[in-house]
Amino acid sequence: MMKNIGLFLLVVVATFVVAATAGSFYQDFEITWGGERAKIYENGNLLTLSLDRASGSGFRSKKEYLFGKIDMQLKLVPGNSAGTVTAYYLSSLGPTHDEIDFEFLGNLSGDPYTLHTNVFSQGKGNREQQFHLWFDPTKDFHTYSVQWNPASIIFSVDGTPIREFKNLETKGVPFPKNQPMRIYSSLWNAEDWATRGGLVKTDWSKAPFTASYRNFNALTSSSTGQSLDATGLAKIHWVQKNYMIYNYCTDIRRFPQGLPPECSIA
Ligand SMILES: *[C@@H]1O[C@H](CO)[C@@H](O)[C@H](O)[C@H]1NC(C)=O
Repeated sequence: MMKNIGLFLLVVVATFVVAATAGSFYQDFEITWGGERAKIYENGNLLTLSLDRASGSGFRSKKEYLFGKIDMQLKLVPGNSAGTVTAYYLSSLGPTHDEIDFEFLGNLSGDPYTLHTNVFSQGKGNREQQFHLWFDPTKDFHTYSVQWNPASIIFSVDGTPIREFKNLETKGVPFPKNQPMRIYSSLWNAEDWATRGGLVKTDWSKAPFTASYRNFNALTSSSTGQSLDATGLAKIHWVQKNYMIYNYCTDIRRFPQGLPPECSIA
């Protein structure tokens, strides 16, 4: 009898140990490709992806999300990262999928990364905005967040909003709100377009290239604010004025038939 109680207690303790690692990369994510190039360390608190000449690597969330505030800290490929792309995004599946994208395009040492963002709704994207950052994203971890609710999608960096995509369904612009999405990330090579439109090639002598992830947090309550308040709007204006390098909403040559409807409303 005593022996059985001892065993029972052991099982209880073991269960608590497992529960204590909740929120770890082991629990929330699965490696989807690249084999040994994707690794989880430190009891599940750190994940790294790497890229070499043979392959990149990637992971995805086990859960699907429909609205929420999703934070991840990333430290990007340092040094000469030209041609590498670290994609971090939410996406549903199928030809009419929705998608919310962060993509980090590497660069030569000392040249700035480009943060590329996009929003797909019902299979249609073409809503790119690109930014430079106000810090070196390879030196430390920084928090990249998506706040997604039925009224708007807000992209932020270290708590500073950089982009808002509002729900303008009443004006005929589809908004992602019916399809749950998973979180995906991958590190891959896109030297044909990533760095200065493919002019700068990847220096494979620097491989493997590595990006790191930590402190994932998902707040799935739909009460994550509605849209930006005055302070948020002031911050977004600061970022867009000083760090935005491309905005589809001002690319008249690309849309000779007229800019997308959300552009004139915004
Ligand atoms: C790389 O650096 C150049 C020079 O500063 C810059 O024009 C470009 O936007 C940067 N990013 C990419 C991805 O090429």
